[in-house]
Formats: sequence, C-alpha cells, structure tokens
Amino acid sequence: MSVRTATTSTAAAVLGAGALLLPAAQPQETATTLPSDRRASPVVVAHRGASGYAPENTLAAADAAKALGIEWVENDVHRTRDGVLVVLHDTDLKRTTNAEEVFPDRAPWAVEDFTAAEIAKLDAGSWFGKQYAGAGVPTLAQFVNRLERNRQKLLLEIKSPASYPGIERDILRVLRQEGWLDRSHVRDRLVIQSFGADSVKKVHALRPDITTGFLGTPPVADLPGYAAFTDQINPSHTTIDADYVAAVQRLKGPHGKRLRVNTWTVNDAANAAKVHAYGVDGIITNYPDVVRDATR
Ligand code: G3P
Ligand code: CA
Repeated sequence: MSVRTATTSTAAAVLGAGALLLPAAQPQETATTLPSDRRASPVVVAHRGASGYAPENTLAAADAAKALGIEWVENDVHRTRDGVLVVLHDTDLKRTTNAEEVFPDRAPWAVEDFTAAEIAKLDAGSWFGKQYAGAGVPTLAQFVNRLERNRQKLLLEIKSPASYPGIERDILRVLRQEGWLDRSHVRDRLVIQSFGADSVKKVHALRPDITTGFLGTPPVADLPGYAAFTDQINPSHTTIDADYVAAVQRLKGPHGKRLRVNTWTVNDAANAAKVHAYGVDGIITNYPDVVRDATR
C-alpha cells in the first residue's frame, strides 16, 4: 500500500488551527496511519441533487442540497431530438415523468425521440411526491443557472455518450454560454465525468483545463493510462477497498495533482464511515446530511 504523507496544511485541516501550535519535533503522521476518525472529511456530493429528499435531477433537488448546506451537486445530461441538453438520469422518460400519460403513443419514450418543447410539458416531480407536482425536466442551462444562484458546484455526468455523438462539444457550448467555463468555475466549481472513457478523453482534448472524472473501477495496472486524461477515478463503493483507493491516489493526473477518488452511491452512515476509512476524497450520496454527519 502506498503512503500519502500528510502535509502541514493537511494536518492543520484535519486537526484544526491548534495543530499549527504542535512542537516541530512532533512526528509527522501519514494518511495510512491516521485513524479514520481523524482523516480530513470527504467532500459530500448530492447525487442527482439531494435526491433522497426531492425528485432527482430537478431544480428542487439542487435547492434541497443547498438547504442542507451542500455545495456539490451531481447530475446526468442527455440530448433531445432537436439538440437541447436536458438533465435526467434514464435514457427514457418513463420512470421520472408522466410521459406515458401525456404522450401515450410514443413508446419507448426515449429522450432522444422528444423535442425540448415536448419534454418541457412533462411533470418530473409528482412521481416523487405531490408537493413537487409541476417540477419540470430542467435543461442544462436552467440547471447551471440554478446552481449559480445557489452558489453551488457541478459534477456533470455525460450519460450514454455513445448515443449522442458530439455531445461533449454541445455541453461545453452550453457551459460557456452560461458563464461556466470562466477561470473561477473551471478551477473550483466544475467536474465533468462519464462511464465512457472516450467521452472523458474528448472533454479533456477539447478543454484540457477542465477537471475530469472517469466513472468505474479500472484495474490497477490500467490506472496510469487513465491518469493521462482524467483527474478522478469515481467507482461504485461496492468495488473498492483501501488498497484500491491508495493505488489511485498515488498517481498524478493530467494537471500534475494526485488523482482523486469520489465513490458512489453511499446512502447510509455505516458505508459512509467505511469508505471514509478507505481514504476516499469524496462521497456521492442521495442523503448528503447522513453522509456528512457520519464522516465528520
Ligand atoms: O456520479 C456517480 C453516479 O451517478 C453514477 O451512477 O447510475 O447514478 O448515474 P448513476
Ligand atoms: Ca449520475
């Protein structure tokens, strides 16, 4: 297992300002020797917004994350028949909207078969709870504008990129138009990830300054290849252990910083504590308050 040396600033972050008063002779701790309860808390990411509390991938879910004090919001992006980028998880509209009712003859209700104007007629909130009736499927532009208003940050997932040739350029165009590709957003408030390695590579080639993530658990031997184009390896929590996390973190990514690990989807305190002990950098969750409380 690799050993990440805790820097003075890391130790200060973990232990609080008082750590700066430690005598110089104090032996330096390392990440692997720190007990789990003294590790720096992982970043908590609201999965599809705070989707345990509000309908996933809606503006209400972003607001619910904000209400919990959560900055980072994950979402999923698809493209309509007329080329508009919209935020929802599935490749079809059945599970999270009333598309079957509104458009009964349009099976299988694939997003790519509908125009943005048609999708704008749908209710993406009632399935979750009556109080969310009328919540729409947001466009990507609407979604990032809400995050901007909320002063939040975006972990954007390019969903099924093979189904949408050129979607990487489309996403970058919308982000640029909405002011999300300026220096401060790119440096601090945006990560683009996908299960599609080619899609992540395209984003990196188009905008090498953007932080990227690969969704999955590549074999350790393959990780150096991924480190050429991705800054994060973001695996399911069921596929990792402390050794895997350390193997990722010992590599440097395209920006010269160590690779980071954000794991998903962790929805209970016990698993949050477990992956925290593994040393992950971030936890993606439907219940951000539960994970935050378990990892503080
Ligand atoms: O961000 C990670 C996670 O969202 C990947 O899985 O199916 O929820 O998009 P899924
Ligand atoms: Ca996702």
